[in-house]
Amino acid sequence: MAFLRSAFLALVTVLVALLAPTVIHLAKIGGPFLTPKPTHVGEGQAPIVIQDTVHCEDVHHYRPANLLFTACEDDKTVRFDWFPGLGHLKLHSSQGSIHVVDPKTMKSTRLVFEGFKGDFVTHGIDVIEDPKQADAVYIFAINHLPNPDFVAADGIAEDIHAARSQIELFHHVLESNTVQHVRSILHPLVQTPNDIVAVALDTFYVTNDHYYRGGIMRLIEDAWPFAKWTNIINVKITDLKTKDAMAGLDAVVSHEGLWNNNGLGHGRREDELVISSAIGGELYLGQVHAANRSIDVHTTLPFDTVTDNPSYYADPYRSESDDASGFVVAGISQGIYLGQTAHDINGKEPLQVWYTRQTSTGTWENKLLFEDDGTRIRSASAAVLVPIEPVGGRKKAWLFVTGFLSESMVAVQVDL
Ligand SMILES: *[C@@H]1O[C@H](CO)[C@@H](O)[C@H](O)[C@H]1NC(C)=O
Repeated sequence: MAFLRSAFLALVTVLVALLAPTVIHLAKIGGPFLTPKPTHVGEGQAPIVIQDTVHCEDVHHYRPANLLFTACEDDKTVRFDWFPGLGHLKLHSSQGSIHVVDPKTMKSTRLVFEGFKGDFVTHGIDVIEDPKQADAVYIFAINHLPNPDFVAADGIAEDIHAARSQIELFHHVLESNTVQHVRSILHPLVQTPNDIVAVALDTFYVTNDHYYRGGIMRLIEDAWPFAKWTNIINVKITDLKTKDAMAGLDAVVSHEGLWNNNGLGHGRREDELVISSAIGGELYLGQVHAANRSIDVHTTLPFDTVTDNPSYYADPYRSESDDASGFVVAGISQGIYLGQTAHDINGKEPLQVWYTRQTSTGTWENKLLFEDDGTRIRSASAAVLVPIEPVGGRKKAWLFVTGFLSESMVAVQVDL
């Protein structure tokens, strides 16, 4: 009996030791004990709701033209059935679109596709200047297409991956209302793409946010802090003109060993990336080595909530003594309930938007920029700051927040 009792105690000890980090982490990041405190934005200053921005997961501020770019689902129902990023794998055909949002008018314009047909299930994007034409941009956008073999099996084959996600490359002349399809990019290393950073027209990085696409292993991957199974892929495009999505590509694993690496953004310098672990509630700054195509993570910035797509705000009014440059990151603040609300067309996901800047002593200071209980905006996955000229030395910016399940992007003025 004594032996049995000590064996039992040993087993319990091992289980507690295994589960403790998960429980502590879920209590902190998952937010079961959090009471959302919607940010008060001042009398008559409700957040501005940007019309026609349904389920836009990502947003980028393209500084040279002072325009925002986003990729939207456009239809309020699709994502509750089909969105591989959330593990929703019930086939539902749809074509979302690329939008331009003007921060001066707060209006969104849907760009009309040229040379592009079929489904467009949107997620992360990046926007870079056309190296040959200063008034044009290239837009890289993830497209979560269904796997044709899964479609042929009417969506009921367990041994066939439901999704066959790829990346679309578009070209857009600023101020026009069209976007031209350049090519599709399909590579076996890009399995569960989430976010993308283009460092040149022919080179980009893309995160695979999960190792498992569904089932019990995906649940374990989501809950267990030691499930550091995700990677980041570096893709070089050697042929921009091909019509074959798999041709003219050269890809390598650039980084591996992070838990749920998710959002990806440009850093403070050209050779720096900012990576997020969404469920981990951390941002990582990484040095890009162009020669061997690898990323070295050198700094970890922790937060107490889910951290989705990060962006870097370079303060145009910075001075030696006052620099408001920093990283902005949005995320849901009660992720523990996402499994239920993400299936509910009337559900709400509370959220927080954080901003972190480095002080003169080198430490990082986190500041909550915006919080909501899911009423003014439902969920948040990306946020950017658009500068406002300072009055009397007070630094302000427009904060644009968008979510993977938000019916509209919102904009609100914040103090930096
Ligand atoms: C890539 O190159 C950098 C700089 O030379 C080096 O520090 C790093 O260890 C290399 N990484 C790999 C994976 O080879």
